[in-house]
Amino acid sequence: MKPEEILSLAEFESIAPEHMSPMALAYVSGGAADELTMHANNEDWRRIKLKPRVLVDVSHLDLSTELFGHKMDTPILLAPAAFHRLFHPDAELATVAGANHAKATMVMSSYATEAVESVTAVAKHPIWFQLYTQTDKELTREMVERAQAAGCKALCVTVDTPVLGARHRESRSHFHLPADFKLPNLNLGAISHRPVRGAIYSELLNPQLTWKDIEWLRSIAKVPLLLKGVVNPDDALHAANSGVDGLIVSNHGARNLDTLPSTAQALPRIAEKIQGRIPLLVDGGIRRGTDILKAIALGATSVLVGRPYLYALAAAGSQGVARVLEILKTELEMAMALTGRTTIKEIDRSVLWE
Ligand code: LAC
Repeated sequence: MKPEEILSLAEFESIAPEHMSPMALAYVSGGAADELTMHANNEDWRRIKLKPRVLVDVSHLDLSTELFGHKMDTPILLAPAAFHRLFHPDAELATVAGANHAKATMVMSSYATEAVESVTAVAKHPIWFQLYTQTDKELTREMVERAQAAGCKALCVTVDTPVLGARHRESRSHFHLPADFKLPNLNLGAISHRPVRGAIYSELLNPQLTWKDIEWLRSIAKVPLLLKGVVNPDDALHAANSGVDGLIVSNHGARNLDTLPSTAQALPRIAEKIQGRIPLLVDGGIRRGTDILKAIALGATSVLVGRPYLYALAAAGSQGVARVLEILKTELEMAMALTGRTTIKEIDRSVLWE
């Protein structure tokens, strides 16, 4: 397959089933329960209308942004996702090679199937680490210290997953980690995230995580600490008041609690509460450059994409990942030019037809 012949992220999604096992496909494509929020995540960006602006010199476009003192080439990051070996034999090393090619930041998962040191050793752009805290605090501390020692430039603590949601596709596929899989960033062995206790609790997830732990994490972290998975504006305010450095507005790809609002709906409500005090990032349903423009207009500094790059990783390895980022970048450039914006800073709500 020739990644350069793929023109949109939807095309990677449509060919993905030919390139991955039914179990991997069920894992990546599934949402919680009736998947209403999953559909809303996709649909709500599209529903927002744009207002064009004509007769602006758009012969030079600058997509760069700054986050936590790092210049980013584009406002697009790879969202954390577990178990890349399900999608490609080179696993996270293929993903980071794609990110390198596109000069993008990859947020790597605690449940990665490659060690954090191996990923940062080859990364040419900042790697961020997604943290799944463990009930064993010392184990959590080790994970934080190890990610920092490996050179990760930010920690994204997932706060929306004390338990998983009702994932029917995953359950029906009898999801299990293949016997040869390792989770080298955890000292727990290769156990799965699937519920084993009381039908809802997983050995890999921490249902005891509270704001107190976030304060503790903030005190031990030497890099910016973001909370990933905030939808409630009051939680967002609490986070900003707790010294957290940034938020990822996310409903976990709608994989946990169904009938939550889409992130397109939640983002402006959170932006209103936060008033620019800390950067907001957003994920969930970003499939087009126009979605990115809209997210920035509604208060995000950057976006993350998840499922699309996993489909592309399966279909075309690192080149697929790079192609996803290239398509999004090109579409964002087109959207900026056609709305008369030449820099990311110039994108505000006046770009929306409200
Ligand atoms: C998931 C967890 C592991 O969504 O992040 O599957």
